[in-house]
Amino acid sequence: MALRNIVKIGDDVLRKICRTQMSFDEKLAQTLDDMAETMYKAEGVGLAAPQIGILRRYCVVDVGDGIIELVNPVITEKSGSQCGNEGCLSIPDRYEEVERPMKITVRAQDRRGNNFTLSAEGFKARAICHEIDHLDGILYIDRVRKKNKIL
Ligand code: CO
Repeated sequence: MALRNIVKIGDDVLRKICRTQMSFDEKLAQTLDDMAETMYKAEGVGLAAPQIGILRRYCVVDVGDGIIELVNPVITEKSGSQCGNEGCLSIPDRYEEVERPMKITVRAQDRRGNNFTLSAEGFKARAICHEIDHLDGILYIDRVRKKNKIL
């Protein structure tokens, strides 16, 4: 395992739409391991591939109850709403209030390419939505309500 550099805001790589991950090989496994290590070291709760400069659709999330690896994730259901503060490892020292669904269902693949479905609510749903946004070049600051927007 190895720590990866986390790309910071201002880098175009954070604004690209990531491509589908097609191969479920040792390189993917290694990268997911590196992403988990990098996320824990930075004390984050999620990290998406573009944040380490890889324009592919996968991310890791751990809100305290274990690592979740999502490859090619798609939100298939969402309901309710919640408002809460978010930060991002690519946007240091900044936290702002963002509205997210309260509950989501996600369809994704694991590191071997097996399909699975995951339901999450509350903070976990928030973290997953945040990471999936990264795969489409969207940062949480794009979703901050105008009246609260600092920049
Ligand atoms: Co982020």
